[in-house]
Amino acid sequence: MKKLSKVLAVVLAAMFVVACFAGCSSKESKKTITLATSADFPPYESIGDNGDYVGIDIDFAQAIADKLGYELKVENMDFDSVITSVASGKSQMGMAGLTITEERLQNVDFSSAYANGIQAVIVKEGSPIKSVDDLYAPGASYKVGAQISTTGDIYFSADIKDGKTTCTIEEYATGAEAISSLSTGKIDAVIIDNEPAKSFVAANDGLTILDSQFANESYAVALPKNGELNEEIKKAIDELISDGTVQKIVDKYISAK
Ligand code: ARG
Repeated sequence: MKKLSKVLAVVLAAMFVVACFAGCSSKESKKTITLATSADFPPYESIGDNGDYVGIDIDFAQAIADKLGYELKVENMDFDSVITSVASGKSQMGMAGLTITEERLQNVDFSSAYANGIQAVIVKEGSPIKSVDDLYAPGASYKVGAQISTTGDIYFSADIKDGKTTCTIEEYATGAEAISSLSTGKIDAVIIDNEPAKSFVAANDGLTILDSQFANESYAVALPKNGELNEEIKKAIDELISDGTVQKIVDKYISAK
């Protein structure tokens, strides 16, 4: 009996050592992958009720990390820092409902596109602005808001510079700030991507989205130029798009129309 318990003790001790080693080593060998995002853009990325990051891009990034066996670390920052963080290699991926643009391609690489984005215009209900063309009418002097460094900001600012519109632009740190300025009547319209536009309009009374679109774009994941992990990340993204995982994630956040 005594001998048996001694054997048992040895076996248990051995099992404990093995379990600990397995646990410790797997933790150490699991590399992290850092995602740069700007969690102010529901349903792509926002801060959830528990203070955690939620949204399409967050779930998509998690699926990429899971597929490749990495631990995902989310770094939240101002939108206009996302591209810089990826370009410098500090983050291995940037996802923020990011539109592929020629200018950004000078600094970062992009994956395949995973979503379509539409730049929409939000106005107050009853606004004299009835369509995007009204912003381009001769002598129009509306104040248009946009989140700084977003394509809405970049394109409208370019149109002002080129003399295509006589309206003015107000740049905000977040879309939510532009929306609250619109609600209080400081500005006349906000240019922002269609899905966040719907979220903001649903959360704020008295606002409406114009039927006409300002721009039609594609979202993709930004990667550092020549990033070490780029090829495996791009491959994982292509697989997650083609096997329907991305669509499932989108459906979880955006109800089918
Ligand atoms: N699609 C637009 C762009 O790439 C806006 C993205 C804003 N994203 C955000 N997380 N605030 O410029």
